[in-house]
Amino acid sequence: MLNLMQSSSLRIGFCVAAAAAALAGCRYDPVQAEKIRALPPEDAQGTRPEHRAGQPCVDCHSTYEGAEPKLAIAGTIFSQTAKGYLNGVNGVFVTIHDSAGATYKACTNTTGNFYITTADLQGIDDFAFPLTVSVAGVKMNSLIGRERSCAGCHKLASVDRIDRDPGVDPATGQARDSAGAIVIDPTYLSALERCGPTSIVAPSGAGGAGGAGGMSATTTATGTGGAAPVAAGAGGNAAGSGTAGGNL
Ligand code: HEC
Ligand code: HEC
Repeated sequence: MLNLMQSSSLRIGFCVAAAAAALAGCRYDPVQAEKIRALPPEDAQGTRPEHRAGQPCVDCHSTYEGAEPKLAIAGTIFSQTAKGYLNGVNGVFVTIHDSAGATYKACTNTTGNFYITTADLQGIDDFAFPLTVSVAGVKMNSLIGRERSCAGCHKLASVDRIDRDPGVDPATGQARDSAGAIVIDPTYLSALERCGPTSIVAPSGAGGAGGAGGMSATTTATGTGGAAPVAAGAGGNAAGSGTAGGNL
């Protein structure tokens, strides 16, 4: 509790500073503030790329809330055990295609989190919405019109939500207001959809040169920039030059 309050006053502090620097988009927004306030508190291991799995990352990693890095899109990928529990899936590709023809790939980390930072969008200000997305080759049929957190639609089950709507699936969180957790079956993944443990992005399209030699998996850079496919060598998960990987 106390932690949460401390951190939110910190955030407000950031907002004032940003407003003083004349950055747009930092006005107090009661809806946004309430969404963030209602999130579960930080876990014991603290803020890190693996934290807050299943939560709407970009609510905080935004100009509004000021958490760094600023994220262009992010979420969490799960698998389900025989007993129905959700586990984060480590090392699968999430692929985003934007409407201008650019393709981005990011890799999930140990809690199933993946993210593309705004700095990863090399050479462009933002994605061209709407976006299509697939996870480990499984395509989402719906388009993403503007929501940058997968968990904006894929909400987990919570006591609050189950109280309000008894139709919420207690395992996946699926209900009228939620597509449920993003669940894949890692057993049947092709090697192409597997990636190293480090969150990494292969940007492409407008002006992007793609990344030289990032990962063991083949990341094919496509799009208007005509970047060559990147077929990186064996093994390593060190981020190559040009691929602005999120974390260490
Ligand atoms: C309630 C707000 C909140 C949510 C939700 C949230 N984060 Fe964070 N995150 C933070 C804060 C605060 C930090 C610490 C950096 C800062 O203070 O700017 C942080 C740090 C990070 C970092 C940097 C860690 C480091 O070691 O440099 C990454 C990466 C990150 N979060 C990813 C995510 C992802 C992915 C999600 C969603 C699954 C997520 N965050 C959800 C607030 C949040
Ligand atoms: C605007 C709401 C919305 C957002 C945002 C959203 N999804 Fe979805 N997603 C849905 C809905 C609704 C479905 C179920 C129908 C379908 O496949 O479109 C779905 C289904 C999926 C599926 C298919 C699941 C299956 O078992 O067939 C995947 C994979 C998926 N989403 C991944 C993602 C990822 C990754 C993100 C974040 C980058 C994301 N979604 C963001 C609404 C959303």
